Parts: sequence; structure tokens; C-alpha cells
Amino acid sequence: MELRVRRAPRIDLEITVPGDKSISHRAVIIAALSNGVCTLQGFLPSEDCMHTVNAMRALGIKIEQPEPTTLIVHGKKRVLTAPKNEINCGNSGTTMRLLAGLLAGQPFETRLVADAGLSRRPMDRVIAPLCEMGADIIAEGPDQTAPLRVHGGSLRGIHYRPSVASAQVKGALLLAGLFARGKTTIEEALPTRNHMEKMLNYFLVRTATEEAGSVTVFGEQVPESRDFAIPGDISSAAFWLVAAAAQRRGHLLIRDVGLNDTRTALLGVLLRMGAQVREAVEDVDQLEPRGIVEVTGFPLKGTVIQGKEVPRLIDELPILSVAGALANGRTIIRQAGELRVKETDRIAAIAHNLRTMGAQVAELNDGLEISGPAPLHGAHLASFGDHRIAMAFAIGGLFAEGETVVQDAECIRESYPGFEMMLEEFTNPKRMQVSTPVIGSLTSAAPEQG
Ligand code: S3P
Repeated sequence: MELRVRRAPRIDLEITVPGDKSISHRAVIIAALSNGVCTLQGFLPSEDCMHTVNAMRALGIKIEQPEPTTLIVHGKKRVLTAPKNEINCGNSGTTMRLLAGLLAGQPFETRLVADAGLSRRPMDRVIAPLCEMGADIIAEGPDQTAPLRVHGGSLRGIHYRPSVASAQVKGALLLAGLFARGKTTIEEALPTRNHMEKMLNYFLVRTATEEAGSVTVFGEQVPESRDFAIPGDISSAAFWLVAAAAQRRGHLLIRDVGLNDTRTALLGVLLRMGAQVREAVEDVDQLEPRGIVEVTGFPLKGTVIQGKEVPRLIDELPILSVAGALANGRTIIRQAGELRVKETDRIAAIAHNLRTMGAQVAELNDGLEISGPAPLHGAHLASFGDHRIAMAFAIGGLFAEGETVVQDAECIRESYPGFEMMLEEFTNPKRMQVSTPVIGSLTSAAPEQG
């Protein structure tokens, strides 16, 4: 599939985005471990999340899907059964790493397989701590990569300081910790998204968090079954927020989107770059804050993104790089070496595609230096099989002279089914739906400096 994009007319829209990917994975897993039936609404029916659903089914959990965004999960009080076949995680790193944690505590062996892209991504980051807890995990690929043979067993809690800032590692260890004797503590140098902690708490599992950045789960607990509504994904919203922010007088309102502050650093960056940004949390009843974000576009200026901001916008760096190319001055992204081990080497992919569109970019070991504003021109661009690269450059096309073609864009389905239709809303003025400004009643996003 190809995406063909032309310059956007004036943006003035009110939209919603599909459910949060990270929260969808976690909700299915915790609901499956609970002591009863849980209805999950707002579930993201993307390829990645369906890999997690199918994995839990293969482990003996009944999951109904009466409509694409609703799941009814029949929790079996932490009892899982050995799968008949290997479990395919596709291209979903979250599925593979969270499952490794979950399976580490099960009394059977499971083989986790992945597609070619995921089979190249590092798994030692979960294998090492899970083995320290007592699991036996064999990586069949070179350099500790998938397929993984997880031979679960009786686990003991550990105190672990991950060497990479990764919510997938933290999530895997918290799941393993649920099945371990004693307590499991993860001490993070830089805080990552805290959805697993929140989800465990919502399902009444006892955890303890400390200001300094550590989280502890107490072992051998059964989550209490509950219904849960998943908010819209701020990482999906990011593409449209940047489009509106980069267009002078562009205006966008997104409703019912997740506003967990471990995920919203993008808003602070856009504010720093000169856009007007407002956010209002409307609901925190289910522990995950959700509400409205509103952006008005102004001429953007370059910024520096580094340090503790990086894990809080790691998935937004491709689209923020596009914003950097449109901004006046230099945008510097540092300490983001993790981008090299995402669905593709995102640093190389961003640099390649931005240059192809006419931007000036220097590739750094751990980031990028982008000099703007570039008069972007349409081009044929590769997705590198990476959904966020494909979407970021489709947005780039909204600001380019002539036509932009993003090739091999089917990977978008991994995280954002419906992206193409929304892109159509942004490019076809006839279908434009004018939004009512609500600025004034909302509070300003706080800029966060790295
Ligand atoms: C995710 C964590 C991040 C993120 C990924 C989803 C999660 O990965 O990039 O899209 O749901 O835990 P890392 O934990 O590897 O940084």
C-alpha cells in the first residue's frame, strides 16, 4: 500500500484518535489474570494489540470481541495453560517483551516467535533480569534475539536497575513479579511510561512507587476483575497535533485522549517551539488521565530535546523531527540512541527521508540535528517497515510542494488502523468539519526541559 499526500489546506478540525496501544496490551493481560469477567472498551484493534489478544487466547483465556474496540476478557485467576503451538508476536515488541515476563512465572515452556523486523531487536534487556528471577530463557537468534524459548518456573523477587529506559522491560518485570515470591522492585534512572503500574493498581494489585523513580510489586497477588475504558492514544494524536502546530493558524481539538504525564512531553515541546497548546484532564476515575488537547499553529522555532524528556516522547521523535524541519533554526535531539533499535533504525530512517524531501540533517550517534525551515518537496519515501516513520512522513507531505508518496505504508495498521481515513480529513477541504475554539477554558501544557 502507498500513501499519496499533497499540501494540506487550512486545518480546523475536531477529532478523536483510536485507543492507546500501550494501555490496550496491558489491559488485556491484566484482565486475563484477574478473577472474573472484564469488559474493555476503547481497545485498539491494531495488528500489534491483536497479537497480544491472540497470545492470551493461546494461553487458555476466552476473549470475545463483540465489536472491534470492545473486548470481553474472561479472567481465570492467574491460571494459564500451555499453548499448543508457538506464539507469534509478529512485529510487536511490546507483545514479545511483556509475554516474556508473564511466561517467566508459568510452569510450562513457550516458544515466542517474531517477524523478521522484531527478530533483529534486542531481547537481552528482558532475558537477563528474568533469568535472575529464576526463569530459564533461551534466545534462539543471534545476539540474544528471537525466537525465545521461555521455560518458566518458580520465581523470586529482585531489585533491578535497568540499563536502558524501557517501559517494556519494567512491564515485563512487574508481570513476572506478580508470580514471584517476595517483592520485585524496578529502579529507573529515567522514568518511563507508568501504564503497567496504573493498570495493576486499578485492578487492585498492591504496588509501591517512590518519588526517586522505583516501583515495587508484591508477589502472588490475583488482580480483581474490573471493567476499563482505554483512552485515545496520545502517540497517534501526535501526528495531527504536529500538523496543526506547524501550520500558521492551524487549529485542532482532540477529545478523549490519554493525558498521562509520562506520555505528554510532546505538548511541552510544541509549546516551546511556539505553538499554542492547551490540555484539560476531564477524567481520572480509572487512574489513567484522559481529556482534551487543543493546538493552534504559529511559526515554529527549533528546540533541544534530551535527558528525561526523551523516554516521555520516545515514540513522538519521528514526527517531532518533521516539525524540526519545518521550524526556524536548529532542532537537536540527543540521548535518544534507543531510536536505533525500534521497528527500524529510526535515526537513519528519519535522516534519509528528511534529506530526500530537501531538509538539512546531521545524523548523530544518539540523535539528530535538523536545520530548518526547509522548503520540503514531495518525494517517494520508504517506510522502512516502520509505522511511525510512515505516518510521520505522510504528515511531512502535508507541508511539501508537489506530491509525496510513502511506500509500503501497510505497517501503519500495527498501531493506527484508520490513519488513512483521518489523513483524508486533513487533505480534503470538502469534508472539513470546523471546530469551536475552546482555548481559555483549558490550562496550558507545562513546558518540560530535558
Ligand atoms: C512501549 C514502550 C516503548 C515504546 C513502545 C511501547 C510500551 O518502548 O517505544 O512503542 O508499551 O511499553 P521501550 O519500552 O522499548 O522504550
